[in-house]
Amino acid sequence: MEYIGDLIKRALLSRRDMLLAIPPFLIACGGGSSLTPSTVRFNSIKPNTLDDITVPDGFRWRMVIGWGDPLFRQEERINYQRLREGGTTTQDVEIQKRTFGYNNDFIGVIEHNNRYIMVVNHEYFNPELVFPPEHLGKPTYEEAMLMLEAHGLSVVELFRNSDFTFRPVVGSNYNRRITGSTRCLIEGPAKGHRYVGDSAEGTLNNCSAGKTPWGTVLTCEENFNSYFGGDINSVQETLVREIHQRYGVPSRFADVYGFYKYMDRFDVSKNPYESFKFGWVVEIDPLDPNRPPIKRTALGRFKHEAATCVVAPSGQVVVYMGDDERFQHLYKFVTKGKYDPINRENNMKLLDEGTLYVAKFYDNLTGEWVMLAEVSAGQIRVNPSLPSLYKQDPALVFIDTRGAATSLGATKMDRPEDAEWNPVTQSLWAVMTYNDRRTSPEPANPRPYNYMGHILEIIEQRNDPTATSFSWRIPLLCGIPQHPDPTKELLVYGQRVSTDTPPISAPDNITFDRFGNVWIATDGNEDDVRLRVNDGVYVLDIYERSLKMFLSGPRGCEICGPEFTSDNRTFLCAIQHPGEGGKGSWPHDAVVPRPSVICVVREDGTKI
Ligand code: FEO
Ligand code: CA
Ligand code: CA
Repeated sequence: MEYIGDLIKRALLSRRDMLLAIPPFLIACGGGSSLTPSTVRFNSIKPNTLDDITVPDGFRWRMVIGWGDPLFRQEERINYQRLREGGTTTQDVEIQKRTFGYNNDFIGVIEHNNRYIMVVNHEYFNPELVFPPEHLGKPTYEEAMLMLEAHGLSVVELFRNSDFTFRPVVGSNYNRRITGSTRCLIEGPAKGHRYVGDSAEGTLNNCSAGKTPWGTVLTCEENFNSYFGGDINSVQETLVREIHQRYGVPSRFADVYGFYKYMDRFDVSKNPYESFKFGWVVEIDPLDPNRPPIKRTALGRFKHEAATCVVAPSGQVVVYMGDDERFQHLYKFVTKGKYDPINRENNMKLLDEGTLYVAKFYDNLTGEWVMLAEVSAGQIRVNPSLPSLYKQDPALVFIDTRGAATSLGATKMDRPEDAEWNPVTQSLWAVMTYNDRRTSPEPANPRPYNYMGHILEIIEQRNDPTATSFSWRIPLLCGIPQHPDPTKELLVYGQRVSTDTPPISAPDNITFDRFGNVWIATDGNEDDVRLRVNDGVYVLDIYERSLKMFLSGPRGCEICGPEFTSDNRTFLCAIQHPGEGGKGSWPHDAVVPRPSVICVVREDGTKI
């Protein structure tokens, strides 16, 4: 416990750091003093266990679109009753291909020519909430195919109502579904490798994502292993077996989806290489429905959570990425070429050449980005300290990125979820959701049995995202205010907080308001080892160093994809897997719960 106390002291800011974090216009009027109006203008709600959405006084929420809602023709909608009764047909599969997918996660709103184009990830499926209970673990062919088509992404144009809420424009030319069966191209250093090939059927387990400065979306394939079944011992090549084991292929969840029973490509015994086509960052062009998704292999292969782009002072583009599994790593990719605001086609090639790095955190609150490999003019140069395996077959660094990173001594983190660049503080905020298996704390992951999770702030040297060294601190150690167990106590910038501060755990996706305050969506509050309340959206006020709760979701859900419109008048988020665990039925408009995107506005229409 002594150890944690020391770490917390060190996580406190130095005066210099504090100045770095606060924009000049606020320092000038004494940021955080009682004379300055707060930048977080609402009264915190309290965590609850209602099967509904709660927002603060003065705000209201509205559903934007939910699972099975039409994208192309008003009359196309999933027949939830038929699915629940076990009568899923091939026609239902066709309708799912053309309607909003399941388990919405990332939300990106692209503002283009006065239009709002929303891109949403559909991460996974909850058959236990949709099909008859007796089908669990043995879905019919039609059920398996419907689940495959419910994955991927939806692109949907939104109409903005006069009160700043949104509704879908059914039939817009921008509307599109990308699913587990959509043909994708493969580009970058692993293209053409015998394990990977040059195309893929579908994108799966799209969790979080990022928007590029040229208006595309980088969608992240996370737990892609979940869909692969079969017998690992039947795989002949030792190296292939070893890599699959590092990534959890095959998975105990394979029976839930049943894909491998109906499609040979998901059976490792029949097709040992198919899973190498997944675990990538995939670039989607929401402005061109005819452009195929492209898997960008230069960004490495792991359980990708997020891909956040920043344009560096040099014009190079930096993509920050987490690998969301216990004891996995934090990465970044720095493009070789520069972003050109007037040459979109050129920008579309930027992510194929550059350098992939992995983070190493040191005890003295500094850290280093260790180069894994560099791609230039079609040639790969690997870190000379890598084992010979990667030198003999350099593309392997991008295919077995986990193995390469771990061999270089990359820091093993507490499940890296989102990693987002804060444009106000000019620093990277990286979320560690939790890691109940950690027995040895170390500085950047300072709690044993980290049930509650924490958020790191990484300050790149000169605030330049291309830098190879950084300093870091821990602005938020999640937990319960004044909890007697120091591994579960909520600490904000290293300080204890009053008991009326809302407890928070399992931070997942984050975004920033126009002041740089951190809006945090959670995934795991409900668990018995955490808070036993619904997940929600919290705001870390970086000036007053306080925490408030903005939104509480319905039962069983996690909240994902927090997103502001550029004018900060509308906040959107995804209600994913409502009713999971059999706890609820939100939004109470069908025989089954429906994952949905919602928006929140101020009743008086002013900025949030
Ligand atoms: Fe899909 Fe890491 O959350
Ligand atoms: Ca997530
Ligand atoms: Ca999560």
